[in-house]
Amino acid sequence: MELFEALKRRCSIRRYTGEVPTEQEIQTVLDTALLSPQLPMHDIHISVITNSALLKEAEENTERFCQLGYPTYNYGAACWILISGKHQTEGMPNTNFTGDMIRTNEYWTLGSMIQNMQLAATSIGLGSVAMNMSVVSLRDNPAFAEKLGVPNGYEPLGSLLLGKTEIELKERQVKRESLPITYLK
Ligand SMILES: Cc1cc2nc3c(=O)[nH]c(=O)nc-3n(C[C@H](O)[C@H](O)[C@H](O)COP(=O)(O)O)c2cc1C
Repeated sequence: MELFEALKRRCSIRRYTGEVPTEQEIQTVLDTALLSPQLPMHDIHISVITNSALLKEAEENTERFCQLGYPTYNYGAACWILISGKHQTEGMPNTNFTGDMIRTNEYWTLGSMIQNMQLAATSIGLGSVAMNMSVVSLRDNPAFAEKLGVPNGYEPLGSLLLGKTEIELKERQVKRESLPITYLK
């Protein structure tokens, strides 16, 4: 699919068939995360979770934390891509860059990775949705985060649910009024 078509067809999918994407599909999507802009001072880790017991446990953990009473938090998606980053405390030596600034920048990197992967998923006909609830729910449960492959000293940053869907990825129109833009000419 051509890039602009994927940009227009990308949308959050919240109903999946439950079928696990093929290894090739998952790898195609993951490769695009690695093509996103990266800074050398960041230590990012990706967990790819297709284990059904862990996916179920993640939903239980999310309900424990969020208490929203959702029937499902994974929407039936059989693949969950969880991105974590090293909890930066040290700044950059001989600069004004604090550890906190480096941490904030990790979120830029995260956004690029998620965006690339969503576009790639759209291009190959897979559904996807950025998933924050299951990520924040790991904050007070480091033992489960460790089970999900989050390395020691890293914090969960964000995630993407990925899967087969019967929902059609329809082309959307741009709504120019949706965000204020200031032009300074
Ligand atoms: C940072 C971020 C976190 C999100 N977290 C969730 C989430 O926890 N659960 C969910 O269903 N959707 C989540 N979404 C998806 C948004 O709800 C969705 O992108 C938004 O409603 C716009 O819809 P669209 O993606 O179809 O354009 C998240 C999106 C972003 C950007």
